[in-house]
Amino acid sequence: EKVVLAYSGGLDTTAIIPWLKENFDYEVVCVCIDVGQESELDGLEERAKLSGASKLYIEDVVDEFCDDYVVPCVQANAVYEYKYLLGTSMARPVIAKRLVEIARKEGAVAICHGATGKGNDQVRFELGIKALAPDIKIIAPWRSELWKLDSRESEIEYCKAHGIDLPFAADSSYSRDRNLWHISHEGLELEDPANAPNYDHLLVLGTHPEKAPDEAEEITMTFEQGIPKTINGEAMKVSDIIRTLNKLGGKHGIGIVDIVENRVVGMKSRGVYETPGGTILLEAHEQLEELILDRDTMTAKKDIANKFADIVYEGKWFTPLREACQAFIESTQKYVTGEVKFKLYKGNIIKMGTTSPYSMYSESIASFTTGDLYDHKDADGFINLFGLSLKVRAMKQGSFVEL
Ligand code: ARG
Ligand code: SIN
Repeated sequence: EKVVLAYSGGLDTTAIIPWLKENFDYEVVCVCIDVGQESELDGLEERAKLSGASKLYIEDVVDEFCDDYVVPCVQANAVYEYKYLLGTSMARPVIAKRLVEIARKEGAVAICHGATGKGNDQVRFELGIKALAPDIKIIAPWRSELWKLDSRESEIEYCKAHGIDLPFAADSSYSRDRNLWHISHEGLELEDPANAPNYDHLLVLGTHPEKAPDEAEEITMTFEQGIPKTINGEAMKVSDIIRTLNKLGGKHGIGIVDIVENRVVGMKSRGVYETPGGTILLEAHEQLEELILDRDTMTAKKDIANKFADIVYEGKWFTPLREACQAFIESTQKYVTGEVKFKLYKGNIIKMGTTSPYSMYSESIASFTTGDLYDHKDADGFINLFGLSLKVRAMKQGSFVEL
């Protein structure tokens, strides 16, 4: 029988290979899913085989990730607990989906992942797998009684004892998760919220605003129906837009967030996120929506955005609720087409003007001086009715006397 293992090439997932063979007698099919983490993929096949795997798949899902998972989150402006742009969260369902596809192709009976028993990732992987393949067994070594390896040293020893003699870096680094959208950092000094992050050692995608250039950089972007299409006049697919914005945003110190967040398993955890391109993309998209969406739609959309962020964070991607929320969001994007200009400067995104053929902004209505569509006098009756209940309440309770 076969098991599909979500494989990164790191020490944890390498040690899992002999462990699966020893404890379950499975044939191990490794799957490394490329969501833009930029890890060294050269030599990975050799490494997997040397560790006892029968096969290694390297699956590039970057464009699927961007088009089907990132774009809906951008259109929603989905942000968890006001700050986290969901980088890790939105990649988990696409990974789960591809693991299931390969498990089917290989006729595997189980899927194994290396997420710990303390985190969100285990929940996201497993809800995804359950929704897509309810019959497949899930193996999470970190939660298994059979897993006796509780340190890097013991993992290295275990590998050696099973004939796997590979160079593993002595790891004294942060716990990181990277994809095209973001990188997360947890652990080390960050584990105490009283400590300032050690930004000199920590940052990977860019620079801190304090070290960003003194010259601002102006950027023009266009969107069509809420999908980003061009940067500075050049048409690009979404993944290339994110790559380009990552470089620009990283250079100018955009999108660094330090947060204590609530995990779904109940604990608070402290992390630093770098989402340079994503932060620009969300801001630019919002800049355009301001011009186009009516007030009621915007209000409803804000609520759905919050809901959507929770859904994504909790790993409930493959659910009817996510589909319904996404359908609502998509329908709000029909006229979100136009051009936004902004400057990047030391961690800031500064607006430089917005235009859209579907702009609902009317200068003649908004202007203080002109217009026949809007008569100042109409506001008399409007305010009388709008404030009627306040007035009645004050009269009944006599509170107007007290004040
Ligand atoms: N706390 C973030 C989240 O739950 C990031 C998790 C990072 N995952 C990791 N395996 N290092 O989405
Ligand atoms: C893990 O515990 O595997 C990473 C952190 C998380 O999933 O929240």
